[in-house]
Amino acid sequence: MSKIEVKSLSVSFGSHQVLRDINLTIPDRQIVAIIGPSGCGKTTLLKSLNRLLDLNEDVSVAGDIFVDGENIYAPGMDVTVLRKKVGFLPQRPYPLPMSIFQNVAFGPRIHGLDASRGASDEKAEKKDMSALVEHYLRLAGLWEEVKDRLHAPAAKLSIGQQQRLALARVLSIEPEVILADEPTSALDPISAKLVETQFRILKKDYTIILVTHILRQARRLGDYIVFLYMGDLVEHEPAAQFFSSPRDEKTRAYINGEIS
Ligand SMILES: Nc1ncnc2c1ncn2[C@@H]1O[C@H](COP(=O)(O)OP(=O)(O)OP(=O)(O)O)[C@@H](O)[C@H]1O
Ligand SMILES: [Mg+2]
Repeated sequence: MSKIEVKSLSVSFGSHQVLRDINLTIPDRQIVAIIGPSGCGKTTLLKSLNRLLDLNEDVSVAGDIFVDGENIYAPGMDVTVLRKKVGFLPQRPYPLPMSIFQNVAFGPRIHGLDASRGASDEKAEKKDMSALVEHYLRLAGLWEEVKDRLHAPAAKLSIGQQQRLALARVLSIEPEVILADEPTSALDPISAKLVETQFRILKKDYTIILVTHILRQARRLGDYIVFLYMGDLVEHEPAAQFFSSPRDEKTRAYINGEIS
């Protein structure tokens, strides 16, 4: 089943066109890896999927993107609702200047996802929020490492732990799609592996779209591969086919390390 349909998407910054006529179907509950050389438009494509591109003043976007059949570029689309459904995990973690606990509780409080909303009993409310925070820290694979210091500042965590905390924060707003832009590029190999492990577990319930410039990571994680080259979508298909019998000469050259 498809989760997202990209139809004739073109994106320019000022007069510089960076994506040309992209047509793409993104399957539900798989890991989709977007790969390609630096500057080919990976981040731009990723950010088009929850309208984060709108934050650029000189951007122009043509074409349509449907998430669960709904055109997210249609007038009247509620971008806040969209960004809750399609969460974004950036390359580097930016924890809020608060405790580990408060970082995870922040989203549910803002979005009113707190199960105890409306509860008059303050103690019950605290208990429910604690359960939520534990739940999301477990989903992000961080719980065991932080359960004894939930009220310590998040900034004290290692970068690898902070990135999993960032993942817990994305998960805490209950998205259906997770956009991840080179989420392990700032991490040491062991931390990177922990994030990869969580993605493999999470894809059972979430559609994960991962930008990576590491071909080996795309091989390890990707169920479906999207290959961009200088703003064009060269090839997109299930990973097995992509790596074993690429259709396009450019894909073959990229896989073999002849172009980078
Ligand atoms: N806000 C912006 N304003 C102007 N040009 C931009 C902007 N963002 C990206 N670009 C340009 O668009 C092109 C694609 O950029 P993008 O960041 O999508 O590439 P990328 O594939 O993610 O590259 P990298 O692997 O280096 O992260 C580049 O030429 C870049 O310079
Ligand atoms: Mg990028």
